[in-house]
Amino acid sequence: MLAKPSGFEHVLVLGCGHMGGALVSRWGEACSTASYDSGSVASRLPKLFSIVDRSPNAPFGTASLLPPRFQAYASLEDFVQSEPPKVDALLLAVRPQQILAALSSVFASERAFMLPSATIMSLAAGLPLPRLRASLTSASPLFRVMPSIPVAIGEGILLISSDGEKKAATDNTPFMLVRELFAPMGRSVFCSDELLDKGTGLWGSAPGYLFQMIEALAASACALGYDAEQARILAFQTFKGVGIFADKQYAEKQLSPEQLVASIALSGGTTEAGLRVLRDKDSGLVPLMRKAGELAYQRAQKMAQEMEKK
Ligand SMILES: NC(=O)c1ccc[n+]([C@@H]2O[C@H](COP(=O)([O-])OP(=O)(O)OC[C@H]3O[C@@H](n4cnc5c(N)ncnc54)[C@H](OP(=O)(O)O)[C@@H]3O)[C@@H](O)[C@H]2O)c1
Repeated sequence: MLAKPSGFEHVLVLGCGHMGGALVSRWGEACSTASYDSGSVASRLPKLFSIVDRSPNAPFGTASLLPPRFQAYASLEDFVQSEPPKVDALLLAVRPQQILAALSSVFASERAFMLPSATIMSLAAGLPLPRLRASLTSASPLFRVMPSIPVAIGEGILLISSDGEKKAATDNTPFMLVRELFAPMGRSVFCSDELLDKGTGLWGSAPGYLFQMIEALAASACALGYDAEQARILAFQTFKGVGIFADKQYAEKQLSPEQLVASIALSGGTTEAGLRVLRDKDSGLVPLMRKAGELAYQRAQKMAQEMEKK
C-alpha cells in the first residue's frame, strides 16, 4: 500500500498553457518515475493533480496524454461536477490579465470544492500579494511563485514570496508544503514580494535573454561563413557545456562568475580582447541586462494596471 504523502493531497492547477504545462509535465515525470517510499521527494508530492484549462490547445487535453494521478477538465464546472476530493492547494497558472476573473470564478458562491484552509499560489507577473489578498474571500495561506521555463526539465529557478509568517522549518507549514511541491522543478529562493516583483523581468525572462544570446552567437558564426546548421550546433552546445561546467565549478570549488571569467580570459589573450566590448560600462552586458530587466518589469506593472481597469 502507498504511504500517505505528508505534502499537499490534491492540487488544482487552473490554466495549463506554457508555464502550467511545463510544471505539470515535470510533476508527471516525478510522479511516474518515483516510488512512494517514505522520505523520498515523490512521497511528498500530491496524490492527485486536477488540471483545468479551457483552451483546445492545452497540453494534456486528452486523457491518453495524462500522466498517472492526473485528471484534466475543460472548465471549472466540469471539475466541480466530477465531485472531486477536496482541494488543499490551488495553483493559478493563467495569464496576469485573466487572474482576477479566474479567482472570482473560484470564489463564486457554492464553491465547496476547496478546503477553507487551502493554500493559494499565483504565477502571475505584476500582481502583488496585497492585490491578490484583496480578491480572496478566505484567510488562505497565499504565495506567489515566479518560475523560469526550465522547470520543465527540473532545472528551473523559482522565486517564492508570501504574506504569511515564515515559521521554523517544521513539517506541514504552508512554506514547507510549497517548497516540497516545487522541489522537482529546480532551485527555489524565498524572497520578499518586492524582490520577486522586481526580479520578474530578470529571472522570469532570463531564459528568453539567453535564447537571444544563443541566436546572437549563431548569427555571428553565420556572418563568419559557417552554415546555419553548423552555427546552431556550435551555439547550442556552447551554452549547454558552459552551463554544466559553470554549475560544476561552483558546486565543487565555489568559483564565482568573476573567477570563471578570469580563468578563461587570460591577460593579453583573445577572450580578453572580445570581453572588452561585453564589459563596457556604458554599452556592455551589465547595463544591457539591467535595462532589459527594467523594461520587462515596467511591462509587468503596465499589464497589472491594465488589468485593474478592466
Ligand atoms: N511563460 C513563462 O515563461 C512564464 C514565466 C514566469 C511566469 N509566468 C506566469 O505564468 C502564468 C501563465 O503564463 P503562460 O505563459 O503559461 O500563459 P498561457 O500559455 O496563455 O496559459 C494560460 C492558459 O490558461 C487558460 N485559461 C485562462 N483562464 C482560464 C479559466 N478561467 N479557466 C480555464 N482555463 C483558463 C488559457 O486559455 P485561453 O488561451 O483560452 O485564455 C491558457 O490555455 C502567467 O501569469 C505568467 O505571468 C510565465
